[in-house]
Amino acid sequence: VNTTDQAFDSEAFRAQGYRVVDALADYLAQARGGSLPVLPWTAPAEQATRFPADFPAEPAGGFDALLREVLAHSTSLHHPHFVGHQVSAPLPLAALCDLTAALLNNGMAVYEMGPAATAMENAVTSWLCGQLGWGTAAGGILTSGGSAGNLTALLAARQAQAGFDVWTAGAQGGPPLCALVSGEAHYSIKRAVQIMGWGKDGAWLVPLDARLRMRADAMPEAFARAEAAGRKPVAVVANACSTATGSYDPLAEVAAFCRERKLWLHVDGAHGAVAALAPKYRHLLKGIEAADSVVWDAHKLMQMPALATAVLYKDGRHAYGAFAQHASYLFTEQQPEAEAHNLGTRTLECTKRMIAFKLYAGLAVLGTRFFADHVTRSFDLARVFAEHIKAAPDFELALEPEANIVCFRHTPRVTLADGRDTGAPSPEALDQLQVKLRTKVNEGGRYYLVQTRLPQGLFLRTTLMNPFTTEAALVALLEVLRVASRT
Ligand SMILES: Cc1ncc(COP(=O)(O)O)c(C=O)c1O
Repeated sequence: VNTTDQAFDSEAFRAQGYRVVDALADYLAQARGGSLPVLPWTAPAEQATRFPADFPAEPAGGFDALLREVLAHSTSLHHPHFVGHQVSAPLPLAALCDLTAALLNNGMAVYEMGPAATAMENAVTSWLCGQLGWGTAAGGILTSGGSAGNLTALLAARQAQAGFDVWTAGAQGGPPLCALVSGEAHYSIKRAVQIMGWGKDGAWLVPLDARLRMRADAMPEAFARAEAAGRKPVAVVANACSTATGSYDPLAEVAAFCRERKLWLHVDGAHGAVAALAPKYRHLLKGIEAADSVVWDAHKLMQMPALATAVLYKDGRHAYGAFAQHASYLFTEQQPEAEAHNLGTRTLECTKRMIAFKLYAGLAVLGTRFFADHVTRSFDLARVFAEHIKAAPDFELALEPEANIVCFRHTPRVTLADGRDTGAPSPEALDQLQVKLRTKVNEGGRYYLVQTRLPQGLFLRTTLMNPFTTEAALVALLEVLRVASRT
């Protein structure tokens, strides 16, 4: 048999595939049951020695062993003690969709390169638009992550609002532009603004309230200052919710300001737009229906594997402004709207994954309530954890959680050997303690949590989106942190 026949042999694939699914199913059972380390910590240089670049010229086999190595040395997101970054413990069903998408490799730029995927993408994006309260004029696309999504939406905003054709004339073809942005915006917003050539002040910061939400009452002054500095504000970017603390900006008030000043409102809902699905928490998004664009990550609270992001527009035609460019070998010369089925006119990607399949399958097979319940449970659990933190005299809660993100720090008083109490540690010592705790706990493999700097200092940060994380596991985390602080 020649090597190509071997590599594409369908029976070999079947046999290998069964072994892979067996290995993944075992992994899932162990991860869910918490019998693996959350993070099998190894220093980067040592890890590199496990995966050397000494590739053989001839087929060498060994995939099963390689898969075992990958599973043993990867972070376990299904572990109930994974409470770190905002990345989902993905649905096994969605993983199977991704496997299918990888084999079919329908590239999606044009309808002919992904007929089923295009139909599913249009269905999923219009369903998401409906969840935001938008009508039939709304529409959107799926793209590779919230960062790409924010750039896409801001490009559309720029084209709609600049007053000149920036796509053709370039960033210097008119007055310097800016967006009014929360200081708590995800870094991808500032990055997008700078990619667009607006410079650092292109993200003009609006002051925050004590809960780290953008102050709508401070927007007129921010607008005036930006104008006085020679900028033309064209958009506002609001968080729903913020990355660090899960704070929801007051969208209704922000939207009223945007309406008054004729500004584009972009809501970065990468993490928290999903609250639209949960009746108990929908109120956090009050006003989102007035947004012009919303980014919504399904690889966060919708339990999809990365990457799966929706960029949604209240008026779907704006999607064509983001990349106002024609590639005639791909698209015919008709009006772009006449080519709604060719998604590549509206995305950063040309070739892209069949992102919609997993999301469509999840909604179609598991039903929509499944996703709503996951949001409710995650947000509820954050409130329960916050109560435990508040009840513990040696822990401090940074903010009452609005979403499923809880920031807190350990604040033990130090008792000396002679019994004297030295009082609260200095701010520097407190910061150092949190760094020490996070490093110790993560490298020990029992929990995985992260940290964030807030105005009061450095805080430990947990995002509760793993469906197997329990209240008891969070109470135990506090005890693990206490023990770590003493050793
Ligand atoms: C509010 C917000 N926006 C954007 C992003 C970036 O999303 P992604 O990681 O999908 O690029 C994040 C995520 O981590 C986020 O929390």
